[in-house]
Amino acid sequence: MKIFREPGKLQKWASAQKLAGRQIALVPTMGYLHEGHLSLIEAAKRKGADEIVVSVFVNPVQFGPNEDYDKYPRDEKADLAKCRKAGATAVFFPTPANMYLDRHSVYIVEEDLSRGLCGARRPGHFRGVCTVVAKLFNLAHPDFAVFGQKDYQQAQVIKRMVRDLNFDLKIVTAPIVREPSGLARSSRNTYLSAEERERALALSGALKTLAVGRNAATERKRVVKMLEDAGLKVDYVEFVDGGTLEPVKRTAKGVCVLLAVYDGKTRLIDNRVL
Ligand code: PAF
Repeated sequence: MKIFREPGKLQKWASAQKLAGRQIALVPTMGYLHEGHLSLIEAAKRKGADEIVVSVFVNPVQFGPNEDYDKYPRDEKADLAKCRKAGATAVFFPTPANMYLDRHSVYIVEEDLSRGLCGARRPGHFRGVCTVVAKLFNLAHPDFAVFGQKDYQQAQVIKRMVRDLNFDLKIVTAPIVREPSGLARSSRNTYLSAEERERALALSGALKTLAVGRNAATERKRVVKMLEDAGLKVDYVEFVDGGTLEPVKRTAKGVCVLLAVYDGKTRLIDNRVL
């Protein structure tokens, strides 16, 4: 497995792979890898990529000033071992200084799908995500890139960026991976105390109770109550069209229900496409 730290070195290697006709998959991550990330590598393998590049970079530009950039969990050694075991062929570990050179001044802003949901609560978040992901595309030259459906809005925003900016690659989404308890896997789960973990089960619990053919406003109230009764602070509960992310009036096939809560100090998200 190759390890790159310099953007230019990854880019040179990736260009050579393309010239040799090899198919490249990119799995962008912020590290502290768990089963969810490993399922993205698995998806890349199943799709037959010759090279699977996993990027591990806690991107400062997508964190707000009061968010958890500094305390975001990091474990380079464990991530390397997990990538190797999962079958990645290259890992990219850049630093903020070599991803964002002095006076970096170009950013990508998606102006439709990123307005609501996490975009509204985390100003600048998707600007940071789009910018870093576009840079990773330019460095790794992937034929396709794999994103988890847990970050549903992110996957939609990235697909739109790829379409609107004519990136020559496909976006593959992989299903949410859950712990046996139902809790969606997330690097941030590591912040949770035993009691908070227990409370967090209300997220997947609430999503399980949803069905098609119901009034969305009534369902929303019911879900908010379920989450609050469990002791979670609701950031949002939204019923949206899975493609446009516009609010819907009724639950129907293709509607996506997205949840964001604070469990103590930890912000957790989850979703389900009906
Ligand atoms: O989903 C993530 O882990 C990040 O937002 C991503 C896509 C790696 C960009 O930093």
